[in-house]
Amino acid sequence: MGYGINWGPEFETGIDIIDQQHRRIFDYLQEIDHAITAQQAEEVEKVVRALIDYAISHNTFEESLMENAKYPLLGPHHEVHESFRTRALAYNTRLEKGEDTFRVAREVRTDIALWLMNHIKADDQHYVPYVKKSLEGSFVSRMLGKFFKSPADRK
Ligand SMILES: [Fe+2]
Repeated sequence: MGYGINWGPEFETGIDIIDQQHRRIFDYLQEIDHAITAQQAEEVEKVVRALIDYAISHNTFEESLMENAKYPLLGPHHEVHESFRTRALAYNTRLEKGEDTFRVAREVRTDIALWLMNHIKADDQHYVPYVKKSLEGSFVSRMLGKFFKSPADRK
């Protein structure tokens, strides 16, 4: 099914909450593959919609962190997210119109997956120093650390 969807260090931002959400996006993409392989149309549609919803909310979340960090390129990054939103929602529309679920899902699996992977690897890296700095020692980061630490990190 085309290229593989595997998490690697090139996708890491070092901001835990962002990395967790980006990993969840990868998980959704793998779930789409599994549902396609299992030939389960309903499941395919459910996961495609879940991925699109999740990715759009994730982008909004990122923008709130960028805003807090007074990231100077929030405007252009927002525009990039908007173009993703339009592109992603077009797949929902095609599903609603009754187009073959597997065909739509295979396109999502190539087009949307490639878009997200490139975006995470390139565009997102640029805000990292700004957001990291603004999170350091902040209330939000202490709370995130408290609630989102993986069990292995807890002492
Ligand atoms: Fe982004």
